[in-house]
Amino acid sequence: MIIKKTSLGEQNYSQFADRYAEIAKTKPHNADYNFPAVVSLLTDVTGTTVLDAGCGPGFFTQWLLEQGANVIACDVTERMVEITQEKVGHRATVIRHDLYDPLEFAANETFDWIICPLVLDYIEDWSPVFAEFARVLKSKGKLVFAAGHPVGDYLWLKYRQNYQTNYFDVEEFATPWKRFGEPQPVIRFFRRPLNQILNPLIGSGLLLDDVLEPLPAQSFKDKDPAGYVKLHQEPGFICLRAVKP
Ligand SMILES: C[S@@+](CC[C@H](N)C(=O)[O-])C[C@H]1O[C@@H](n2cnc3c(N)ncnc32)[C@H](O)[C@@H]1O
Repeated sequence: MIIKKTSLGEQNYSQFADRYAEIAKTKPHNADYNFPAVVSLLTDVTGTTVLDAGCGPGFFTQWLLEQGANVIACDVTERMVEITQEKVGHRATVIRHDLYDPLEFAANETFDWIICPLVLDYIEDWSPVFAEFARVLKSKGKLVFAAGHPVGDYLWLKYRQNYQTNYFDVEEFATPWKRFGEPQPVIRFFRRPLNQILNPLIGSGLLLDDVLEPLPAQSFKDKDPAGYVKLHQEPGFICLRAVKP
């Protein structure tokens, strides 16, 4: 019998899914940095079929529905699935799915878009995930994802958290997140070098279409002026768009 290791994502987010849903709604790194950056890469979603892979509490699912997209959303954390389902009702299909597993619910060439913001950091090897994304995208369909920036993550872990780290390795870390209330969730994730972002993507056959090292929106400044300045000096996230030929 194969006993499957529980995904890091589920271990992380089942600790505080409701708090995440409430706080990330307005938290600057989510609402004023990740969200506008990812949306800026999503041209023309109206009337398209979109997979929100790792939907969390459904911020993007809701936005996509408002744009007139047909959405299938999935997440490995049961409570995140419930929260998104409660928000969107019958307007979207929301399923529990671990991206470590093949996307068995989707036929080849189903989606015009796949979005995967701030999810892949919890997955060690991206090659099988991108291979599945490539399979279920239509020709000319696009993948947009956001993840920890390889330079930003390295600097943060080495110089602010004082961890031993080697830029060239894919390494697993655990850090407490201080801004999501008590008890502080301990979040485990993988840091990786740039080649471990780009080569799995290239290996999937998807073609790199846009590289965004985003700056925070102006609204970030009012909530966290020091963080706003820091994100103008060191990157936090990297956002990529790739297209299926
Ligand atoms: C930081 S939240 C991001 C949520 C949403 N994408 C957003 O940007 O608002 C990360 C989400 O990824 C989900 N996740 C992590 N690992 C996953 C996996 N292996 N399969 C599916 N979902 C996963 C978590 O459960 C969590 O809801």
